[in-house]
Amino acid sequence: MSATAAGAVTLATEAVRQALDGHRPRVAVVLGSGLGRLADRVNDPRRIPYGDIPGFHVPTVQGHKGELIAGMLGGVPVIMQSGRFHMYEGHPAHISVLPTRVFASLGADTLIVTNAAGGIRRSFGPGTLMVIRDHLNLTGRNPLEGEVLPGETRFPDMTVAYDADLRRLAHRVAVAQGTELAEGVYAALLGPSYETPAEIRMLEGLGADAVGMSTAPETIVARARGMRVLGISTITNLAAGVSHDLMSHADVMNVANQVAERLAKLVEEIVERLGEARDERRETRDVKR
Ligand code: HPA
Repeated sequence: MSATAAGAVTLATEAVRQALDGHRPRVAVVLGSGLGRLADRVNDPRRIPYGDIPGFHVPTVQGHKGELIAGMLGGVPVIMQSGRFHMYEGHPAHISVLPTRVFASLGADTLIVTNAAGGIRRSFGPGTLMVIRDHLNLTGRNPLEGEVLPGETRFPDMTVAYDADLRRLAHRVAVAQGTELAEGVYAALLGPSYETPAEIRMLEGLGADAVGMSTAPETIVARARGMRVLGISTITNLAAGVSHDLMSHADVMNVANQVAERLAKLVEEIVERLGEARDERRETRDVKR
């Protein structure tokens, strides 16, 4: 598996690099279910269908498009991933994180991951936005299994997997926009069945505030590559048993669509501020010289 994992990253990176034609993304953004609207905010978008990228699979889940979108967001060169390779679709862990590795190989140093999630904390009703403070990887797999890939560490530290400065920045931007932004622990399960009420009670006992079927593998790989990670969950429903409503993907998509605009505005300004911070650091460096 390992030789092919490294080879797959090289092949896919080269295809994307060529398609990007000199565009060098600094920030990579993963768009969760129904959250694709963020891509509409990208200026000068260049779309790369997954069919044009070796090793990328066309998504089978409704609400995931299957393309990368590169361009400028808030004055910063970005690349967005519309469509994940979930492990519940049958993809091995190393395939589920292929896009993340490609973004790192292209030189992106920041990863913003978004997802749709169920709210375990009682105050997290549908429409809540939650910054991920930490995660529980309960998928049963780790994307770093196998040989160490070039540019990665064997035992990445996960003490502050979700960057504290980025979390602070997200809260500052949310306050400025008058958007409520919660913070909590995200539990990643394999899926695809939603959880039982008993499983949700267990997750609550473990300290989880929200639950979903993605994100943890991408964050693990991003940390192994030294990328900074910001995670934002859109809570689309109260988790099983917290509410007595039955769960449906259609409801998840509906709520995600309703919140997408707020999330898009939030992420755009976060990226813009990141660009400004980088410019300031560059200026300070130049003055010191
Ligand atoms: N559980 C798991 N994944 C989800 C949920 C949920 O309740 N809502 C959206 N994605």
